[in-house]
Amino acid sequence: MYSEKVMDHFQHPRNVGEIENASGVGTVGNAKCGDIMRMYLDIDDDGIIRDCKFKTFGCGAAVATSSMATELVMGKTIQEALEVTNKAVMEALDGLPPVKVHCSLLAEEAIHAALWDYAEKHGIKIEGLEKPKSDISEEEEEEDY
Ligand code: FES
Repeated sequence: MYSEKVMDHFQHPRNVGEIENASGVGTVGNAKCGDIMRMYLDIDDDGIIRDCKFKTFGCGAAVATSSMATELVMGKTIQEALEVTNKAVMEALDGLPPVKVHCSLLAEEAIHAALWDYAEKHGIKIEGLEKPKSDISEEEEEEDY
């Protein structure tokens, strides 16, 4: 059912934890399954993501997607991090079963929420970034999968 990569990231999640005084923190949840994901970003003066950590209270797929998402955004610019969509995370994990697609959406939204927090703290606007939802289950219903 799950790819080897999903199992690996679920059993050995990378970058678990918190960042003290993070540049941006984003927390998102899904009211339907009750899972919550929090993403911490450390962004330097050049706008490069130097560190990324997460805490996920959720299913195995949510843990695996958050772990992979932290690896994908690490070292990237803010604009590049915006391109780390749930599809990109799923591809990097060699896919997820259809019923688990919403878990990867949580990872995408958590990154967006952390970037939004960073932008608000610095009084800047990030091109292409929309205000994230705190509950992704509304969005999920519009998703076609
Ligand atoms: Fe909800 Fe996976 S079941 S995040």
